[in-house]
This record gives sequence, C-alpha cells and structure tokens, in this order.
Amino acid sequence: MPPIELPHLSSGPVRLRPPTESDVSVIARCCQDPDVQRFTRVPSPYTRADARAFVRFSRDSLANGRGVHLLAVDERDRVLGAIGLGIDVADLSGELGYWIAPEARRRGVAVRGGRLLLEFAFGPLELGYVGLHAAASNAGSNAVARRLGFVHEGTLRDAMVDGPSGDRRAPRVDANVWGIRPGELPL
Ligand SMILES: CC(C)(COP(=O)(O)OP(=O)(O)OC[C@H]1O[C@@H](n2cnc3c(N)ncnc32)[C@H](O)[C@@H]1OP(=O)(O)O)[C@@H](O)C(=O)NCCC(=O)NCCS
Repeated sequence: MPPIELPHLSSGPVRLRPPTESDVSVIARCCQDPDVQRFTRVPSPYTRADARAFVRFSRDSLANGRGVHLLAVDERDRVLGAIGLGIDVADLSGELGYWIAPEARRRGVAVRGGRLLLEFAFGPLELGYVGLHAAASNAGSNAVARRLGFVHEGTLRDAMVDGPSGDRRAPRVDANVWGIRPGELPL
C-alpha cells in the first residue's frame, strides 16, 4: 500500500502527531495506568521496549499504509493520549482505538482526537467503515463511541478479558461492537 501522508490534524487544544523516540518515557508511564492496562490490549507488564516498539509500529504503519497510530498532544506538545486507526486494506475499513493519560481525562480529548481520525478516515483515506470494540464494563469508552456517532451493532459474548492482556484470572466480559460509516459523523 502507498505511504500515508498526514495532514495537519488539530481541533481546539488537541493536535495529533506521530510518536517519536523522545516520547518513550511518557508512553511507558501512561501504559502503567490501571485502566489502560485493564481496558486496552497493550502488553502487560508494559516496558520502555514496548513503547519503543510502538514508535516503530506507528512509523511502519504510516509507511506501508496499514494504520495511523498517533499521539494527542496539547499546545505545548505535552502528551495527552494515543489515538489509533488500524486499516484493513482489503475491505477499506478501519478499527479505532485510544487511551488518554489519567491527568488529561474528562476534558474531551478522546472525542476530539477520535473525531479528527474519523474525518481523516472518511476523507483522504476514503474508508467505508470504521469499527470499535469496547468491553461492556468500560463506561468511558462506550460513552466516547456514542458521542463520536458510532452505532451499537451488537455484542460479542464473553469476547474480552476484563483485565490486563493475557490475565487468565480476570473475569470475561462481553464486547460491544460499534460501527460508523461515512456521512454518520455528528454535525
Ligand atoms: C475511556 C477514555 C479513553 C475516555 O477518554 P476521555 O478523554 O476522558 O473522554 P472524553 O473526555 O472525550 O469524554 C467523552 C464522553 O465520555 C464520558 N466519559 C469519559 N470517561 C467516562 C467514564 N469513566 N465513565 C463514564 N463516562 C465517561 C464523558 O463524560 C463524555 O460524555 P459527554 O460527551 O456526554 O459529556 C479514558 O478514560 C481512558 O483512556 N481509559 C482507559 C483506556 C481505555 O479504556 N481505552 C479504550 C479501550 S476500548
């Protein structure tokens, strides 16, 4: 696939940009957060090597056209979170994911960042569908999905671990499947 060329992506105080080596410490810190560990599928335990792998993954995904995995930063370039879009190049669809730094939550960062990536997905990338999977127990992520205009399309029974990646003792929980098509972004 051709490389993805990123336009300037910003909305109010939130800008999206690729992660770099200088972000490794803050990414590694954020991914220790109990809710990031519980609700995302980042490695557990999460090390600086995992953060460096994320920086490479972001760069490679842009280069091979298979994803847009960015950091949300504020006006002073402080990291607020990560917002990513994995791309299925066969079906021309995407899958949205995000985590927000604990100190930056409940300020609309996930909604602003998610909206920027959805506009990019349905605009320049010309995708025809974007999905999102959230644990039924993840009130915040389900609220973000609804606010972004996603439609609840179904439930995957017991499809997720409600806990860190690979934790066999964690309870299983239903996964909510959310989806959005071009033209369904709220005004
Ligand atoms: C879920 C998460 C991404 C939300 O990020 P955020 O930047 O705080 O979300 P926003 O400020 O954009 O909030 C959007 C909406 O969700 C609601 N919301 C956010 N967190 C919530 C929570 N914990 N419980 C209930 N509602 C919540 C907000 O009130 C807001 O609703 P409104 O538009 O009706 O006012 C963040 O809490 C997080 O990183 N959690 C851990 C990682 C995670 O769960 N990632 C998603 C995996 S699917």
